[in-house]
Amino acid sequence: MGEADVAQDYPAWFEAAWPTSRFDAMKAACDPMADAAIAVIMADPTSPLALEVKAALASDSDAKPLADDFRRYLSLGHPAAEQAKSLFLPDWIDQAALDRAEVFMARHGARYAFVLLFLSLPILYGWAAGGAQTLTMTGQLSDKFGRRVSETLRFVVSVIRQGGLGPDGDGIGTTLKIRLMHATIRYYARRAVCPSGEDYWIKEWGEPLNQEQMVATMLTFAPLATDGLRKLGIRITEQEDRDLLEMWRVVGWILGIPIECMPTTPEEGRLVWARCVERNFGATGAGRLLTASHIDFIASLGGETMFSTSFRDIDAALLRYLIGSDIAAGMLDVPWPGWRGLWVLLLLWGFHFTERLVDMSHLVRRWMDRHGNNLLIALEQRWAKREDARPFGIPTKEDAEGGMAQACALR
Ligand code: HEM
Repeated sequence: MGEADVAQDYPAWFEAAWPTSRFDAMKAACDPMADAAIAVIMADPTSPLALEVKAALASDSDAKPLADDFRRYLSLGHPAAEQAKSLFLPDWIDQAALDRAEVFMARHGARYAFVLLFLSLPILYGWAAGGAQTLTMTGQLSDKFGRRVSETLRFVVSVIRQGGLGPDGDGIGTTLKIRLMHATIRYYARRAVCPSGEDYWIKEWGEPLNQEQMVATMLTFAPLATDGLRKLGIRITEQEDRDLLEMWRVVGWILGIPIECMPTTPEEGRLVWARCVERNFGATGAGRLLTASHIDFIASLGGETMFSTSFRDIDAALLRYLIGSDIAAGMLDVPWPGWRGLWVLLLLWGFHFTERLVDMSHLVRRWMDRHGNNLLIALEQRWAKREDARPFGIPTKEDAEGGMAQACALR
């Protein structure tokens, strides 16, 4: 694994609050409650209870009526009362911040989805310490990119839509579902064996789906995404930045991230992210495979036409622009964009520059007010109807290890 060449200076307060030992502890920590529940289910996978859980996970219902069921399943390992609290909205919740974040999302939903697709999801392919390898293990991102994107969007829509995390929303149930899904992946990753007979999981990666990875991923949905939106010329206030982080801290909490692992301000979040990159990022075959799948998927949207090459070039340009060349080119081998890609880059830079000179943000905002959320939902529905889409489900051993032979060769 290559080390990330992105060292930076950190303020003294950050060094004191986030020593290496804190990151190391997160790397060794998982989600005891969800893991215990999955252990109970896996101990007797054909029991009526295990079948009930599988059916609930495979159900296409958007989980709101199922939230109580998921709470019950997640409590199967007899958790301490302290852990059980994480199945509900936290008592530190700032409702006003959540309300404002929902208004922000109603305005900027489409661009936000765009940034998730070209920045938040693919940047994590650079996580060389067991991140990219977990994603290739299932083969879902490399073989069924469309399906995974559709599920991720469905999840995001369920939490960001107005009232999504409220008593009538489906955000909590969907998030609890993902929490169980992650615990299942963790269960299989710990036991996965390569065709050579070696264990797939390498100790130096830390625990599979550990808390350092979880927090970093949560940050890609908040301060990293707002940085991406700014790069696209959207003006975002500091308040909006804080509100979005608050929303994702709540989602992170329900997803099993302990409160003490989560940064409290976007500034702190950006520093935590930078440290995670330094500690964990590098070039791997797994990361390159995932990136190539991203580019192939975007190219496939152009069909068997000349647009396919254009889409490929444009994807390369966007990935380089939003992720940054150090990671996109240096670790993920994103190709040099052709002339079409360069045009897009020029347009983006031009837009960014013009936006600074002339305030165009009200035009963008007006357009977003009218179309943003609808577009996001339409996009999500379109993907959900693709042939390779399917509802959330508890991954079977075959699902979870579908990419094993290839994954072992790429470690
Ligand atoms: C805040 C943190 C995270 C969020 C919000 C999140 C969200 C999701 C969502 C929505 C899904 C279901 C859609 C899908 O099938 O992909 C999912 C599945 C999955 N997630 Fe996460 N995730 C997070 C962290 C992580 C991390 C850190 C890893 C691994 C390093 C990871 C690995 C996976 C895998 C392997 C699946 C199953 C995908 C498949 O079908 O192969 N997730 N996650």
